[in-house]
Amino acid sequence: MSFTADRLLLFGATGDLSQRMLLPSLAALHADHLIGDDLQIIGTARSDLDDAGFRNFAREALEKFMPAERRSDMAGFLNRLSYQPLDATTLEGYKELADKACCSEHGTAIFLSTAPSLFEPTIAGLRHAGLAGENVRIGLEKPLGTSLETSCEINDAVAAAFSEDRTYRIDHYLGKETVQNLMALRFANILFEPIWNSNYIEHVQITVAETVGLEGRVAFYDDAGALRDMVQNHMLQLLALVCMEPPTDFDATAIRDEKVKVLRALRKVDAGETVTGQYRAGAIDGKSVPGYDEELGPKDGGDSDTETFVAIKAHVENWRWKGVPFYLRTGKRLPERVTEIVVQFRCIPHSIFSSKGATTQPNRLVIGIQPDENVTLNVMAKVPGLGRDGIRLRQVPLNIAMPDAFSGKTRRIAYERLLLDLIEGDQTLFVRRDEVEAQWEWIDAIRATWSESDLKPKTYSAGTWGPSAAIALAERDGVSWHDE
Ligand code: BG6
Repeated sequence: MSFTADRLLLFGATGDLSQRMLLPSLAALHADHLIGDDLQIIGTARSDLDDAGFRNFAREALEKFMPAERRSDMAGFLNRLSYQPLDATTLEGYKELADKACCSEHGTAIFLSTAPSLFEPTIAGLRHAGLAGENVRIGLEKPLGTSLETSCEINDAVAAAFSEDRTYRIDHYLGKETVQNLMALRFANILFEPIWNSNYIEHVQITVAETVGLEGRVAFYDDAGALRDMVQNHMLQLLALVCMEPPTDFDATAIRDEKVKVLRALRKVDAGETVTGQYRAGAIDGKSVPGYDEELGPKDGGDSDTETFVAIKAHVENWRWKGVPFYLRTGKRLPERVTEIVVQFRCIPHSIFSSKGATTQPNRLVIGIQPDENVTLNVMAKVPGLGRDGIRLRQVPLNIAMPDAFSGKTRRIAYERLLLDLIEGDQTLFVRRDEVEAQWEWIDAIRATWSESDLKPKTYSAGTWGPSAAIALAERDGVSWHDE
């Protein structure tokens, strides 16, 4: 249903995500006059605060996490905020929350940034308080379950109150500017699409490398691991955007229809096509950092087998991608923070330069998502010279640095885009239920092979690119990971 919400209910309003991302994003939307004057934001969480207490909390969060130059009319923003303490697990309290959100003329958007174990009781509470009607939509922060089964349980509970067109599943990678730019690159240019297939592409690499470790999320991360924390959602969404057929339109149904076909075409991976790792103490940027086991602390039942690194050789079994390997890798405590997609094209079929002693290298397209937003196409060019001893060729980069190409344009963080879309009711950048379930099905199968083969993560030193087996996984096919 199409409406622009004039109430936003923020569950988990005093949590980490709220402080770091949600409140600063909403304040930025307010500062840039992108949200209507009538939008009221009602925070709720267990903490026993009143409106003034929550406004103080929000002010401190903005001072800490929002760049000073983007803070404008903060008093006006804080005035939009109110707060209702709530124990989400009991029905009491939801009526008061509904009273606080009352008098919405257009509709309400709800954002659940809480532990997934609270999703079901929260939905029950919202229904009880009449906060699940046609003019209410709900946004859900990950993780949506820990397996296909648990994800279905959550999705069923949500679906009992909110139809799919009112359900907004967040994958914050879809809110990143360069991730959306991937679609512009592919579908707003004639150049790439004709060669975007197994005839011309030899392999694709997707890397999401982080330098951070556990960041205090000990219990959550040790239960999840890199496969479920990063591959199940962000990396598979990136893969789907790289692989999907051209949608007929830039709209939620057309795009999500194409993505889900890719996710369903993922071939079941053998245990030999994955490598897992867990970091030990090491150094990043010259600073010593502790190992995973030290960050985790003592654990009942001995050492943790949770992977903090995973590399996978994946295949999309369809006409376009048959035989093209997709090398995925992600990990914590790697040498640098970088998210990038590398499209490695095939060699030219015949070189007219070999008789002149020149060698050629295949083209390579590197799409940098973060921290640098850029697109680089490596092409062969002639090295200047008279060429009496033959011709020399060298690869040179055609480089577009997005911030330079669009200087003067504000680079927005993902949650600004996603919160605005939630408020305005645009589902294009949210993940549909069938996508999440296809993602889980593939991930569950990988986990099953791990437990069948009793796979334990190999160790790697913090500040390196993961276990050497990850390098071997690619090298077996004559491939080297980009920038190693
Ligand atoms: C989250 C994961 O979804 O994404 C975190 O739970 C990870 O473990 C984070 O650090 C990475 O996001 P970004 O935007 O910093 O790449």
